[in-house]
Amino acid sequence: MSRAPTRIVQFTDLHLYGAADGRLRGIATLPALEAALATARAREAPWEALLLTGDLVQDDPAGYQHVRRLFGQSKVPVYCIPGNHDEQVPMRAELANAPFQICGTARHGEWLLVMLDSYQHGMAAGRLAAGELARLDAALSEHADRHALVCLHHHPVAAGSRWLDTVGLENRDALFEVLDRHQNVRVLLWGHVHQAFDGERRGVRLLATPSTCAQFKPGSDQFAIDQRPPGYRWLELHEDGRVESAIVWVDSLAAAAPLPRASAG
Ligand SMILES: [Fe+2]
Repeated sequence: MSRAPTRIVQFTDLHLYGAADGRLRGIATLPALEAALATARAREAPWEALLLTGDLVQDDPAGYQHVRRLFGQSKVPVYCIPGNHDEQVPMRAELANAPFQICGTARHGEWLLVMLDSYQHGMAAGRLAAGELARLDAALSEHADRHALVCLHHHPVAAGSRWLDTVGLENRDALFEVLDRHQNVRVLLWGHVHQAFDGERRGVRLLATPSTCAQFKPGSDQFAIDQRPPGYRWLELHEDGRVESAIVWVDSLAAAAPLPRASAG
C-alpha cells in the first residue's frame, strides 16, 4: 500500500531574544514567528516533523525558552540545526529532550533526513568538520535504499550577493564531493540567506528558505533588507523520491503562494 507523502514544515532564522519584544532589523522576531506558526498550523497541519534550520536565537541564550514554549509540546519531532547566531552549549542544554533533536539523522517512510552542523565558533561563515562529512557519507551509504534530504544552516552554493557570499559554507567542495559519491540524495536544504532559492545541481534539488523575521534583498552586493514578509517552507516527500515544496509568505498569502492542495487550510 502506498504511503501518504511525508509532510515537513521548515522554519529558519528565527533570531529570537529572551525579551518578547526583541527586534531584529525592525521586526519583532517572536511575534513574527508566532504568526508564521499560526499560519502553518492552519494551512499545513498535520505534519510529520518540523525543521528549525539555524539561528534559532540572536546571540541570546534566553531566546531558547521561547523555542521550548512554542515547540516543546509537539507530538512529532522538532529537528534543530545550529546557525552562526546560536549558542551551542545553551542550545544543546535547553533542547536536549524530545520532541527536540539536534542534528543527527531521522527516518520517515522511504526517506532519510541528515541534519548537518556547519557552526564555527565566532564566525559568520560555516564549515563542515571532517567528522560531519564522514557522518554524512556513512549515513548515505548505510541508507543507500532511501531517498535523502540533507539540511544545514549555511548556503553551499553562491547566493548571488557579494556580502552574503563571504559568509556561506567555506568547504562546499568537500560537501559536494560526498554528495556526488551517492545516488540517493534528492534535496539539499538550508537557511541563513533570508530569501527563497529553488535550484538544481546534478539531479539534486537545492532549496533555501526565507526567515521567519526580516529578509535580505536578493542580488544585492551590499547588505540590504528586503521588504518581503516572514516566511516558511513546506515539503512533501513522496515514497518514490519526488519532492513537492513551496514557500509561504505569511503576510501576502493570496498573492504569493496558492494553497498546495484543495483540502489544506
Ligand atoms: Fe539568520
